[in-house]
Amino acid sequence: MPLRISELRAVEILDSRARPTLAITLTTADGTHIHAGVPSGASTGTREAVELRDGDPARFAGQGVQQAVGHVNAEIAQALVGRDFASAAEVDDALIALDGTATKARLGANAIVGVSLAAARADAAVSGKELWQSLADAAGTTARLPVPHFNVVNGGAHAANNLDFQEFMLAPLGAPSLPEAVRAGAEVYARLKARLRAAGHPTGLGDEGGFAPDLDRPEDVLTLLVQAIADAGYTPGREGIAIALDPAASEFFTNGHYRVAGRDLTTDQLIDRYEEMIDRFPVWSIEDGLAENDWDGWVRLTERLGDRIQLMGDDIFVTNPDIITEAIERKVGNSALIKVNQIGTVTETLEAMTVCDRAGYTQMISHRSGETPDAFIADLAVGTGCGQIKSGAPARGERVAKYNRFLELAAVHATLPYGLRSAT
Ligand code: PGA
Ligand code: ZN
Repeated sequence: MPLRISELRAVEILDSRARPTLAITLTTADGTHIHAGVPSGASTGTREAVELRDGDPARFAGQGVQQAVGHVNAEIAQALVGRDFASAAEVDDALIALDGTATKARLGANAIVGVSLAAARADAAVSGKELWQSLADAAGTTARLPVPHFNVVNGGAHAANNLDFQEFMLAPLGAPSLPEAVRAGAEVYARLKARLRAAGHPTGLGDEGGFAPDLDRPEDVLTLLVQAIADAGYTPGREGIAIALDPAASEFFTNGHYRVAGRDLTTDQLIDRYEEMIDRFPVWSIEDGLAENDWDGWVRLTERLGDRIQLMGDDIFVTNPDIITEAIERKVGNSALIKVNQIGTVTETLEAMTVCDRAGYTQMISHRSGETPDAFIADLAVGTGCGQIKSGAPARGERVAKYNRFLELAAVHATLPYGLRSAT
């Protein structure tokens, strides 16, 4: 059935960080109401699609999104309402053409991505499919439940503590099923809280629901995580619970140096430090280990560690098929973080994942630090079958909405496979 939109509306709402974002309501010709919420990052890559913010200091310190809302309600609605589309991909093409810029800056990537998410849902609804099934059909992929990566210690731009590294994640690679993986994440989270409390650290949370202790060295956090994993009765390591890092190194790269725990490191010193970490701790994946403009460093990082662990590009790749293509040619990393709002449409996101697949680069679907309860990315992860997701801690509603969606899918669709798609 063709996709016909009879009404399209955006509203300015708040994200999980008290910043404005957009909620989209799309009504299909048969009267089905579809909703979507737009996520927003804090440690953004410079080449991401551009969010439109009002810049009016009198409202939300300039962060308002009334212009983006206005674009959905006027120009985008005019262009889409009443037309027949063969697929959500056609809606995305229309959005890209209407905007006319390479970065989606005119209408706003936040406006465009919201409509794109809603269109993907509407497409699924008119064809009587669940969203994950519809996305799997669009992408030509085999559905699979992903390994959740729980961000249990927050630092960097996501917390007001001393930690330079942004994310320390639990990766239950050895869990036999999705529900067991979620259980492992929640149990270790509770043990970690107890350890922090016993050591006199505050147990307040960062933006993604992880704890934000005032520790200086990343190794101190890794030691704590290994202890908490063991406390909860699990084995630290790939056969049990491994660890994934997102240092988000662009955030502490200045004047050619990386500032870690009060010391300036060269690129090669930081690579040495990572090597020591993976020798001593069960770190299986490092995202944004180096800065987005340190491409030569990334080449060396990949040569040194690429056959031992997953080296994932986030700020450096920004879910952009062209940038990922260049990275593959230059042998930069072996994996890509995937965020729909970095590129701005679901169709381009699927394209980026296809580019990765062809080169053997693994992929992890990701939330943003500013979120809504919308669990679209859960269905995206299942439908594309990429085998990995990160959606923050196993705590806070906007984070667990995604994990809870997996629990529902695992219960209803017992035949869905679970886990990494292939060993790295
Ligand atoms: P962001 O952080 O959503 O603030 O950009 C997430 C990440 O760096 O992976
Ligand atoms: Zn990142």
